[in-house]
Amino acid sequence: MPLRVRRKLLFLLLALLAVLVAAGAAAAANGGFTPQAPHSPNAARINSAYYLILGFTGFIFVVVESLLILFVWKYRSRGRGRDVEGAQVHGHTRLELIWTAGPVVILAVIAAFVFYKLPGIADVPAASANDRVNVTVEGHQFYWLYRYPNGAVSIDDLHVPVGRVTYLTIRSADVDHSYWIPNLGGKTDAIPGRINHAWFRPSAARVYGGQCAEFCGIEHEAMQARVVAEPRADYERYIGTTAPATLGRQEWEGVCATCHGMKGQGDYGPAIASNPILTDEQSLARIVENGFGKMPAVGKGWNLEELHALARYAKGTVYTGASGGG
Ligand code: CUA
Repeated sequence: MPLRVRRKLLFLLLALLAVLVAAGAAAAANGGFTPQAPHSPNAARINSAYYLILGFTGFIFVVVESLLILFVWKYRSRGRGRDVEGAQVHGHTRLELIWTAGPVVILAVIAAFVFYKLPGIADVPAASANDRVNVTVEGHQFYWLYRYPNGAVSIDDLHVPVGRVTYLTIRSADVDHSYWIPNLGGKTDAIPGRINHAWFRPSAARVYGGQCAEFCGIEHEAMQARVVAEPRADYERYIGTTAPATLGRQEWEGVCATCHGMKGQGDYGPAIASNPILTDEQSLARIVENGFGKMPAVGKGWNLEELHALARYAKGTVYTGASGGG
């Protein structure tokens, strides 16, 4: 082997090694390449489809790469001149049949499996018809607003009874968002002018994290969602008393603070803690309903009660007085 080629080969091997080492670290930092553990029947079905496809693609990867390395070794030039052609191989009917029929069979198996699982992923279980919790999920720049069956509202945190089906009606008040709680199922887009549905049945009493999965503007990454699955009594108490009592704070922290900071001290948006508009319910309502300058119409579609809760909290808790420093 000429020295020049040997050097190139060495360089390639080192580069490959570096990539492999970095890939390991990247995978570990990210929690690995596999999806999160399923805690809802639909999420479990999505995961089985994932592992079936991972199995086939992993197998194909190993076969192709092994053959590649084998052939590179077996059919190397062995000192033949660089412009002389090597041995030529022609038609091998059985091999050609195998590599044509094989992929067709694999794709057919994957398609059959996915179509078999699909109804259990997409359709809410019929048996839950009389016992499900219907919640409307609204995507807003840049928060999630939930409306419960009794009219209660919460922001970013969705409380649901554990072990029961929650049926989601998902819409958007402004631009495209995507609602995604990885442990509880796939992504469902929130699209203006369209209504989508999703469901889950959380199997454990715990908090499930999620994230808006469609780039929707400057604070897209701040659009995190949580599902709090809890015993039925806790859920009833939450929508009966806790959510209404904390609505103003939730609105401030989930909606305004994203840009203006927790205390209104300013962050991406300007400092507003000492702005007298915080004490003027009508002006405040006009701004959150219509937007102002670069600020989106964050309160689009809010009812009077929701606007009033924010005004009360802004005036009573956030406002620092005209001379206050925030
Ligand atoms: Cu909403 Cu990204």
